[in-house]
Amino acid sequence: MTDKVRRNLVFDRWRNSIFDRKELGPGMVLFKNYLTHMGQVDIVNICQKWAMGPGGFYRPSNRSGAKLRLHMMCFGRLWDPVTKYEKSYRSDGSAPPPLPYEFISLAENAIEDAQLHMKLLPSMLPDICVANFYSYGDRLGLHQDCDEHVGGLDSGLPVVSVSIGYSAEFLYGHTRDENKLEKVLLESGDVLIFGGKSRRIFHGVRRILTPLAYSQSYSPGYSQVIKETGLRLGRLNLTLKQF
Ligand code: SIN
Ligand code: MN
Repeated sequence: MTDKVRRNLVFDRWRNSIFDRKELGPGMVLFKNYLTHMGQVDIVNICQKWAMGPGGFYRPSNRSGAKLRLHMMCFGRLWDPVTKYEKSYRSDGSAPPPLPYEFISLAENAIEDAQLHMKLLPSMLPDICVANFYSYGDRLGLHQDCDEHVGGLDSGLPVVSVSIGYSAEFLYGHTRDENKLEKVLLESGDVLIFGGKSRRIFHGVRRILTPLAYSQSYSPGYSQVIKETGLRLGRLNLTLKQF
């Protein structure tokens, strides 16, 4: 059995047979409710296996030394807001956990699904997954993902972004101008892809919505995911990329 066949067998358990697609721009598509309940539980369990150990979640700082309003860890490769892809940032010297093959499969399959409607979207084989965990009140400022190889950025190799848990108000646009940004809700089980002409899109998480305060954005499967995994209240995001 090839690696790809093995990965796809696992993936069948993770993808809903019916999901909505919203095209958000050139090379940018949001798959609503893409992941099955089992897939979401599996992802949380995989992250929890590594979360508290060496290479697990920490609170990164930005260049001015201020702590970011989230926790982060990486699979496959190390990345940090200050030291970028240099390997030296973790004071404990720990290496990142390996990139789980299920995550690779998820990215490959989601991109293939996107390519059905976006013929020009290139394929991407991820070698890094940045996992962010947002508690209520956390957020992430507007930024571009542009520390990867410039050749990949220029050819628009897509980023695959997975949301589990509380919903997020996600801002995006081709400019830093707040007034010109679009807003979209990312809910548990959603998968967002941005590649092609949108690869260098500005994006950020303006706020995390609690189920109580915003019942209309509550993803019903989520309480079950919490019960089955013991996930802390908040939002888990996986960003899969090719360095
Ligand atoms: C990121 O851009 O690093 C994460 C975005 C998200 O949490 O949705
Ligand atoms: Mn980003």
